[in-house]
Amino acid sequence: MNINDNVLQNNEKIIYALRELYASRGYSRYAMSKFEEYDLYAKNKDFLVSDNVITFTDTNGKLMALKPDVTISIAKNTRDIPEGVRRIYYSETVYRVSKSTDSFREIMQTGVECLGDVGTEEMVGVIELAAESLSLLSDSYAIDLSTVAPAGPDGDEPFREVLARLKKGPYADRFRVNPALSGDENYYSGIVFKGYLAGIPEAVLSGGRYDRLMRKLGRSSKAAGFAVYTDRLERLDIAAKKDGPADADWINIALPKGRLGEQVYAIFAAAGYECPALLEPGRKLLFENPARKVRYFWVKPSDVAIYVERGAADVGVCGKDILLEAEPDVYELADLGAGKCRMAIAGPKTYADDAETTLRVATKFPNIAKTYYRSKGRAIDVIKLNGSIEIAPLLGLSDVICDIVETGKTLRENDLEVKEEIAAISARFIANKSAYTFKTDAICRMAEAVGVNDR
Ligand code: PRP
Repeated sequence: MNINDNVLQNNEKIIYALRELYASRGYSRYAMSKFEEYDLYAKNKDFLVSDNVITFTDTNGKLMALKPDVTISIAKNTRDIPEGVRRIYYSETVYRVSKSTDSFREIMQTGVECLGDVGTEEMVGVIELAAESLSLLSDSYAIDLSTVAPAGPDGDEPFREVLARLKKGPYADRFRVNPALSGDENYYSGIVFKGYLAGIPEAVLSGGRYDRLMRKLGRSSKAAGFAVYTDRLERLDIAAKKDGPADADWINIALPKGRLGEQVYAIFAAAGYECPALLEPGRKLLFENPARKVRYFWVKPSDVAIYVERGAADVGVCGKDILLEAEPDVYELADLGAGKCRMAIAGPKTYADDAETTLRVATKFPNIAKTYYRSKGRAIDVIKLNGSIEIAPLLGLSDVICDIVETGKTLRENDLEVKEEIAAISARFIANKSAYTFKTDAICRMAEAVGVNDR
């Protein structure tokens, strides 16, 4: 049977190309059920990205779950490999809550796992196969590598040895050590890596060594693997295998509209990234300076991190308060020292906390408030407001507020005082993770030039 590939969607073509690659490299197909007993995830919650799992009761009353993860199922279902390694590949759909929409999403993954006596040789093989996977999709790809703090016997992970071997191999110029790549510590134990394609804002490949997960599931085999997130490739033009976006040497900068933005732009201009058009009166929001290859846009301060996380801007400047509240998936590269203030808990001078009652906290920053009180083991009732927070305790709506204090004037004039300080706030220079990978030098130069340590 010949398949006319006009009828295939982009990510279907990619899945077939990857499967063909993995089969040709001696990996065998591993097919699994879409469901697992819920108990597996209840016992291994620390390995999941989110606690949320779609559950249902099967015909004999057992609580089941739609798989939120492939590797846990493979680790659980494969036997220990007495000697050598077993190489498998899979194409599966998992169901996870997406942070941006706060609802369940189907995520398509095609990946490989190498189980058994995984040493340097096998690790290098897995990582080079990750690079080869991306080379099928674009000419402009890169893999960031790091190692997560190992607990226990994984301490001897030969990161340097693997790196030295990769640097001599066919994909040498595609690998970079990126110490900021530290996430997923629960999952991985040892080398971790993420793959990026120019023009796609998020990592399209993620992998690493997961011996600890295997041990937790009662397996003595070691293991490493990676997955390509094929649903992130829907818009990739694989036929063109483009060299990335046409403006690859430009930097797109999102600035917070308003008073802070003007201060921030002055810092950029003084650092050599001027764009005079930006100061002309009018309602334009987008400005370019072709001589400096910078493109600025004014966006709402609370939206800067969204533009950067989603790759519409390569870099941007936003308050640490927004980074703490929204926890966007971006790199925070420098402190601009502008817009300094504090995040604090404040309340009426006469208010004394009663640990026996649930504390009512009014705030624009519910996550910061929840995280802060969780760390203190204090039960709270968060009341989310959008402004004029200081009035809430005056009207009995809340006991205290969690808010920004700059000069302290608003508190004073409303008979409130700071009770506890949570964090120092200032404007931070942030970067999109994929843009950082492909424009490292230019972005680092900019971070250094606008950062407070260098002025
Ligand atoms: C912020 C903050 C405080 C005030 C603190 O409010 O929420 O209310 O500034 O500044 P101060 O310590 O110098 O008095 P903003 O001006 O953003 O208005 P909002 O309350 O409507 O959010």
